[in-house]
Amino acid sequence: MASLLVTCLLVLTLSLTCSLVVESGIPQPKLVIPAIYIFGDSYIDAGNNDFLPTKAKANFPPYGIDFPGGVPTGRATNGRLVVDFIAEAAGLPLPPPMLGMSEAERKRTITGVNYGSGSSGIRSAPPKAEIAFGHVLSLKEQVGLFKNTTVDLKNRFDTAESFASYFSKSLFFIHAGSNDLGLFSDLGKKSDPKTLSEELSKNLQALYQLGARNFLVNNVSPLGCVPFKRHQMPNRTCSDELNKRISAFNELLPELLASLESSLSETKFVLGDLLKLFTDVYASPDSFGFTNIDASCCIDVKRDGSGPSCAPNLGPCVDRGAHVFFDPNHPSEAMHELWARTSLEALKLIV
Ligand SMILES: *[C@@H]1O[C@H](CO)[C@@H](O)[C@H](O)[C@H]1NC(C)=O
Ligand SMILES: *[C@@H]1O[C@H](CO)[C@@H](O)[C@H](O)[C@H]1NC(C)=O
Repeated sequence: MASLLVTCLLVLTLSLTCSLVVESGIPQPKLVIPAIYIFGDSYIDAGNNDFLPTKAKANFPPYGIDFPGGVPTGRATNGRLVVDFIAEAAGLPLPPPMLGMSEAERKRTITGVNYGSGSSGIRSAPPKAEIAFGHVLSLKEQVGLFKNTTVDLKNRFDTAESFASYFSKSLFFIHAGSNDLGLFSDLGKKSDPKTLSEELSKNLQALYQLGARNFLVNNVSPLGCVPFKRHQMPNRTCSDELNKRISAFNELLPELLASLESSLSETKFVLGDLLKLFTDVYASPDSFGFTNIDASCCIDVKRDGSGPSCAPNLGPCVDRGAHVFFDPNHPSEAMHELWARTSLEALKLIV
């Protein structure tokens, strides 16, 4: 039976051109972007940290138990990440971690790359973090690697115009700031919201200089409510102190993005309101299909609910789709999928 298929073309301004096409099969609206480039921390790291001298890795079971093939990939969750779901919605391959790509792959991959690095921040990590976890890629270093990509890909395009046009239609997904406000702050490097937003702004402008035009910039989720934090609180409540710090930073973002959009020509800066998404989920978990919002699905390293990550090789919970968190700090695949849907809605794209 023929059914209507809505195809939408993501054009330069991120406005939508949709056309109705009659095709057989299940209606599957499609997101049309040539590539997705990803920057930030462990919420979106697809395995870069596996190639870095850091202890901040998620390369052992039960991480990846629901990933195609059931293997750990370095993603700090049971399956795919928000950016993997967005890539799938666009019909693109899962964006590979930059550091895992061969020279040849770097020169031919035009569907997007993931530069994310777990435990990284917008600002560089404090010495205490380097000592405890080893070196990871700050946002600035990630932007530096994207510069390498622009050099690597130049020869894939016939003209400078087609090269620029390709980047102008690509999506730039950013999730950074969580560690600056949480981990780094706990380790003695505090960031005032203004300084942090200015540093973020510099990196976004650097991406613009390299050709980026369409940005989805996520704010910081209420980390005071992750299982790891709750465990430190009486009655497993959220840490208001941390959540307030996060809100103070998040409040600066709408204005920052609006000002970048008006000062940088032909750009679109969309806010990914991750704070609101988590807040909505906590207020009404059932309506999103969750029954557990405050405990890790995997058994944590300390085995009493107080450790920061999964204990290697111990089976996680069975009802993974009903848990907001897979480990004590990181969202489950189900939460990532919800985040992807919300992101596509924010981009005014239908999933
Ligand atoms: C990026 O490019 C710089 C300058 O050419 C080079 O030194 C560096 O090794 C490159 N990094 C990677 C990861 O390829
Ligand atoms: C924890 O819960 C108990 C029982 O509901 C309550 O009496 C107590 O005040 C709570 N403590 C805090 C710090 O909220």
